[in-house]
Amino acid sequence: MTFSWSSSTKPIVGLAPMADMTDSPFCRIVKSLASPIVWREMVSAEAVVRENKKTLNMAEIHINERPLIQQIFGADPATMAEAAKIIVEQNSPEGIDINMGCPVYKITSNFNGAALMKDSALAEKIVKAVKAVVTVPVSVKMRAGWSNPEECIEFAKIIEAAGADLISIHGRTKIQAYTGLANRDVVRKAKKAVSIPVLYNGDITSADDFFSAIEETKCDGALIGRGALGNPWIFRDIEDKINGRAIQTVSMQERIEIINKHLDLHILHYGLQSIPTFRKHLAWYFKGIPGIKQFKQELMTANDRTALEKIFEQLS
Ligand SMILES: Cc1cc2nc3c(=O)[nH]c(=O)nc-3n(C[C@H](O)[C@H](O)[C@H](O)COP(=O)(O)O)c2cc1C
Repeated sequence: MTFSWSSSTKPIVGLAPMADMTDSPFCRIVKSLASPIVWREMVSAEAVVRENKKTLNMAEIHINERPLIQQIFGADPATMAEAAKIIVEQNSPEGIDINMGCPVYKITSNFNGAALMKDSALAEKIVKAVKAVVTVPVSVKMRAGWSNPEECIEFAKIIEAAGADLISIHGRTKIQAYTGLANRDVVRKAKKAVSIPVLYNGDITSADDFFSAIEETKCDGALIGRGALGNPWIFRDIEDKINGRAIQTVSMQERIEIINKHLDLHILHYGLQSIPTFRKHLAWYFKGIPGIKQFKQELMTANDRTALEKIFEQLS
């Protein structure tokens, strides 16, 4: 059956795209615990069109990750359309998402990401160009605005009129980057201004946050970013609440089982030498865990699996 946002179960629960974090191994870990829709980390449309091997590999999909939305970034409508077409032909993601929210200088200085919120005519052209070449749903992830948080209200209307099937809004401006709190009120207003589904995004770190965000914004669902790092169980918690089940506590044994499973997938995906690139996940998995301080140095310098397993043994 073809994937569509209108027929997706509500509230829509999604893993937000995060560069270097929401890769295939992490998405598979999330999916081993619950069934959110996962947004893969962004890939450069230009690199896809140039057939850059590393980028094309990044967009490959394992069956266990579906439904999966692949995000692309770029600023040239024809290149964005060509990249979307290539990705859909090669990997058949359930949807294509366009990044109009990234605040990082490297991205915005090329007029990609959040910079597109300053040029709605160009943003509109990109959505139309991508929509014209793919049959899967096309969504846009945006910020509340570039500098004014109310900008997303008009921008969302333009994106809807251009043909987007869904919008996600991170309730902070580009200027705010990650400071302050995400503004739920402007996301509520933007949701009210359009008819397509809207997902709220920002600062959800528990199942309770998820439901309060939906309640306050009246959105069709929400994307969870940093709240899922080191805590893929957040999606199980949300599903438990939806199904009237009690939330399960994560024991140290279960934490270590999932870390080991994640590490297996990471090594299989990136090779035996990839433990240093797993450290960012370890830091999240053990953030705030009582008694972790004394192991931190060892955890962050371990270069092989045996060394890591020794630390895990001491922790469990
Ligand atoms: C490490 C990291 C990488 C990110 N990469 C992307 C990305 O590739 N595409 C994107 O649209 N947003 C990206 N974001 C933004 C998140 O998707 C999300 O909008 C933001 O973190 C706010 O949500 P949260 O409070 O739930 O984390 C990234 C955020 C982080 C922390």
